[in-house]
Amino acid sequence: MRKKLIAGNWKMNMLLSDGTFLAKEVSEKVAQHLDELEVVIFPPISILAKVAEQKLKIGVGAQDLAETDKDFGAFTGDVSACMLKDIGAEYTLVGHSERRALHNETDESVNKKVMNAHKVGLKAVVCVGETLKERETGKALDVVGFQIVNGLPDTTNAENTVIAYEPVWAIGTGKVPTLQEIEEVHAYIRKTLKEKFGANVSDKMRILYGGSVKPSNAQDILSLEDVDGALVGGASLKADDFFNIINA
Ligand code: PGA
Repeated sequence: MRKKLIAGNWKMNMLLSDGTFLAKEVSEKVAQHLDELEVVIFPPISILAKVAEQKLKIGVGAQDLAETDKDFGAFTGDVSACMLKDIGAEYTLVGHSERRALHNETDESVNKKVMNAHKVGLKAVVCVGETLKERETGKALDVVGFQIVNGLPDTTNAENTVIAYEPVWAIGTGKVPTLQEIEEVHAYIRKTLKEKFGANVSDKMRILYGGSVKPSNAQDILSLEDVDGALVGGASLKADDFFNIINA
């Protein structure tokens, strides 16, 4: 049985007082559900330490990490896996489509980042997904399969890695693929994981759906066979919306 995971990606939102307040509110609201599912929030790096310091019942993660650690050179502005671990992160997102698009992140860099996360015991939530053009030209499965095969290092297992399927065209747009399209991609991801890592890993690894998840569509999406949770952006910034998704 895969334990469902609901993750909140706060992106570049929340100053210290609002963020610590929201984290506490979410943690208290969901506390009674945490036997059945896991909840993790991803605040911006500026407040991650303060959020984690509150000893919440939910998990806390970072939105990105450096490709290497300090032993390999000087990297002004970067934050390494071991620094994230040091300030209380349990998870990190890797390869979110906004980073792939705006910071030219490649599968090669995703692979290095995931490996660095694993090295210090951080769990990686690896984001994959096709653009609208790729979907419209029938390439969605190929693109996602390629990102999985090339983005995941050999250190990957079902305990240290989660996949988030986020079609780029569904992020922040209010557009969502059909349930059939979501299930098709999730099943394909599981098949690809099986080919690369074996059935033991693919059966246990959680695959989240992300992209315009809201209280109104969460139940349908989360009841699909190969969907093991959700990565929620906009709707994770309001405790009630996020809680209603968790309730679903
Ligand atoms: P959204 O974002 O829920 O606002 O579409 C999802 C994400 O970017 O992880």
